[in-house]
Amino acid sequence: MGEPLLRALNRMRDHLLDPDALVKAVASGRQKGSRPTWRRAELRYVDLKAGRHLQVTTYDETQAHTANHALAPSDGQSAARDAVDTLLDEPFANWHVDTTTQTHQLRVTKKLEAVVHTTDRAEPVEVERGHDRDKSRLLPEDDPVFVALGISDESGRLKPSRQAKYRQVEEFLRLLDSSVTDALDKGHLRRPTVEEPLRIADLGCGNAYLTFAAERFLSGVRGLPVRLTGVDVKEQSREHNATIAERLGVGARQGVSFVVGTIGAVELDPAPEVVLALHACDTATDEALAQAVSWGAQLVLAAPCCHHDIAAQLRRSPTPSPYAMITRHGILRERLADTLTDALRASLMRQQGYRVDVVQFVESQHTPRNTMLRAVRAGAPVKGGSVRKEYDDLVDTWGISPALARLLDAH
Ligand SMILES: C[S@@+](CC[C@H](N)C(=O)[O-])C[C@H]1O[C@@H](n2cnc3c(N)ncnc32)[C@H](O)[C@@H]1O
Repeated sequence: MGEPLLRALNRMRDHLLDPDALVKAVASGRQKGSRPTWRRAELRYVDLKAGRHLQVTTYDETQAHTANHALAPSDGQSAARDAVDTLLDEPFANWHVDTTTQTHQLRVTKKLEAVVHTTDRAEPVEVERGHDRDKSRLLPEDDPVFVALGISDESGRLKPSRQAKYRQVEEFLRLLDSSVTDALDKGHLRRPTVEEPLRIADLGCGNAYLTFAAERFLSGVRGLPVRLTGVDVKEQSREHNATIAERLGVGARQGVSFVVGTIGAVELDPAPEVVLALHACDTATDEALAQAVSWGAQLVLAAPCCHHDIAAQLRRSPTPSPYAMITRHGILRERLADTLTDALRASLMRQQGYRVDVVQFVESQHTPRNTMLRAVRAGAPVKGGSVRKEYDDLVDTWGISPALARLLDAH
């Protein structure tokens, strides 16, 4: 049931201005027919040398702005109270307010009424108010992305069962961060603007953990305007991801959209400049690499998943001497197939004019799927030469035909 908006906001104001009880508050979305100054605002209290301050982080289309506001009144005014009142005046559509004992979700309806949903915590939480908290983390575990994705609970604590996923996201962001920085510095990627955001496609995005984290990190933390499209063959993924995007206030209008389609046939116009393909099954990674080449993508990050194609070919063709001592053992043959597959992918991308390195994605104790191919378009396709000769020698020796080669020929 709706209630008058002002009355509900006044209740939220009391929570926001309680420096002992507020854990974190997030304002996002826009009320019908209006547009807040900020895309999103986050509030929490931090303990600085000068005493407890209200820390407000606001996000515009390109970057995050953080300001600390004193609680003590100066000239009869409290900077913290002013900051809260300014934000409450903004036409945000949602307020999520966490206190040590309760969680309040305020949603503004189309009729500009408030619907508030309040839940009690089973136990009061303790609040970490350190200023430098999580400095080494690219996205802290209480970031709304992790809460929305179910990696952290509603109070922003990492769920014990999701620690590996959190680590994977952090490792991925570290690689993305360094790859994007390097590509921007070397002029391989253009500097995006609000009018012309960086176009990124996540092919085989699944439940889009990495898609949402990439968007949040690049636009919210790095201040790079991005437009991100997730592609997956499953309609169920699209529905799930659209719901999460809405919850995070980053739907299609804010530049994050999801389409149902196969990687090899999807049409994205304008073409993406950065292609992500993370654990896309078997030859879906090859489809993603071939698409990236056909789009002329500048940066490609592909973490291959299962490798069945070359493994099946190795089983069918006679093993060249003296490698039978490897292929007679099933597990070694599988590992050899994985290595051959990725080495041939790297070589084929080099022949397409990309600078390629193969790096460890996450530490191998967390998952065996821990390789990433990082390719940056640095020049024109290379015809012939030593790279081609090496490639020909390898495929001839083993009598194999990589899926990526077939797909590149077909494009
Ligand atoms: C193992 S999941 C990985 C999801 C996500 N990228 C991640 O790393 O968390 C692989 C996803 O790729 C999708 N997929 C596999 N082959 C595909 C294809 N040819 N076209 C589109 N999606 C595909 C599957 O539906 C699945 O959601």
